[in-house]
Amino acid sequence: MSSSENPIGVFDSGIGGLTVVGELIKILPYENIVYFGDTARVPYGNKSADVVRGYAAQDTKFLVSIGVKMIVVACNTASALAMDVVRAHSNVPAIGVIDPTVQEAVRLAGELGIGVIGTLSTINSCAYSSAIKQANPSLNIITKACPLFVPLAEEGLFEHPVADLMSREYLSGFPGRIDVMILGCTHYPLLKGPISRSLGGKIKLLDSGEVTARAVRELLTAGNLLNSRRSKPRYEFYVSDFPQKFNEIAERFLGRELEFVRKVQILSDRIT
Ligand code: DGL
Repeated sequence: MSSSENPIGVFDSGIGGLTVVGELIKILPYENIVYFGDTARVPYGNKSADVVRGYAAQDTKFLVSIGVKMIVVACNTASALAMDVVRAHSNVPAIGVIDPTVQEAVRLAGELGIGVIGTLSTINSCAYSSAIKQANPSLNIITKACPLFVPLAEEGLFEHPVADLMSREYLSGFPGRIDVMILGCTHYPLLKGPISRSLGGKIKLLDSGEVTARAVRELLTAGNLLNSRRSKPRYEFYVSDFPQKFNEIAERFLGRELEFVRKVQILSDRIT
């Protein structure tokens, strides 16, 4: 198999990265994809940088062992804390979600500014605020960690009253002086309804899925790595804990049956 036929490797702590996979499938319909969701260790977002970097190294090595042609870190927390680790452990191009999302947010921002919600670790890392400031120092930036959104999404409670309650708790007092709200966690687009309602429906919500998928397409094109075979692509999903729940939520979100879902084992130094 030529390297352009090799799959794109995508990882996240759990189901959140599927919001990126959904967009990859839409705009790159002939690409094979291998997804790893670290469901045994989710959430990443309230763990220390050292721990997340260790997980990211293992996740990367696992995808590399499968023979991926590119790594997409579909997790803001790992993108904020561990892109250097991912690059150090891979021999293929790697891309995170933060840079493409910031570029788009800065393009969309009007006079008011940009809001960013994400996990504790992403917000505390200041990865978003620094990148936005670098791109446009005059933009107002307001950030807030919303840690309970991840377990809600992992439970599949996308349109449940508890998701509305939680969104109101986190966001109803959110300072209104922003034009764009970055959903700085790949789980959050699954809760777009409640998040949008709690912000009064007026602020544009930007998630990493579409912009990252476009950046992946550009990278593949530039590296001459687009799959030229026009056959039905193969999608493989690996998780580190029970596959049943992941399977059910993933099928609901992606709107397709998953033909290949497998549980892998996390050893002290690797995933196998
Ligand atoms: N979906 C991931 C992110 O974008 C991780 C969430 C978590 O595991 O806490 O940050």
